[in-house]
Amino acid sequence: MTTSEIAPLANVPERFTVAIDGPAAAGKSTVADLVAQALDAVVFDTGILYRAVTLLAVEAGIEPDNETTLASIAASIDVDVRPPSMPDGRKLDVYLRGRDVTWELRSPEVDRLLSPIAALPKVRMALLEPQRRIGRSGRVVVVGRDIGTVVLPDADLKIFLMASPNERARRRHEEMISAGKEQPFDAVVEALTRRDKIDSERALSPLTPAADALVIDSDGTPASEVARRIVAEFEKTHEAGSASDD
Ligand code: DC
Repeated sequence: MTTSEIAPLANVPERFTVAIDGPAAAGKSTVADLVAQALDAVVFDTGILYRAVTLLAVEAGIEPDNETTLASIAASIDVDVRPPSMPDGRKLDVYLRGRDVTWELRSPEVDRLLSPIAALPKVRMALLEPQRRIGRSGRVVVVGRDIGTVVLPDADLKIFLMASPNERARRRHEEMISAGKEQPFDAVVEALTRRDKIDSERALSPLTPAADALVIDSDGTPASEVARRIVAEFEKTHEAGSASDD
């Protein structure tokens, strides 16, 4: 996908939520950034919370079978995002308990334990309230897996972004190369496939489109085009909403 800015929308409401769900490396973050620019909104990537819990688990040697301990870590998670402090491919600095963990959150060890930990019901429950609070705090584009179905089912607009496994693996591989963290392509495919399977098959809030989500397949479509479509859809929904408020 190529990126380019899209025209800002006039008269955006003070408060709204756009939910963007979909599998790993479907282009959600890139599209969310463009949509947020056009709507003068902020992006909230909920995956960071699951990654932060997983990083603490990796560092403390806590396995996914220790659900109670992991849930208490999730309940006291203290994550802060700030503008990027260095030009090393990061979009934001992510701080966990005051420490810059931007790249640690993307390490292969974290990727390996991520989906099993994100599948734990008590961990998901502990992260529900903070996600709702931030997601409803103003103009927010919320990125995740279960935002439209579970976290914010009342979102103003719900998008489910798809892309073929091959295309997603290719994008993830390129991201890793540009961040100087290359891994063999086959390993990237394998890791994505494994995560997709666990994310889609977990008992609580599996990865699936909400009944009222707009499903977009981004294969072969530039991110700017996908974002334009979402902004147009938002405009339609908002107009329809304002008309029915009258
Ligand atoms: O988007 P990501 O790859 O950073 O997500 C990290 C993991 O967290 C992924 O395995 C799915 C999980 N996740 C989730 O289960 N629910 C969310 N709302 C966001 C992420």
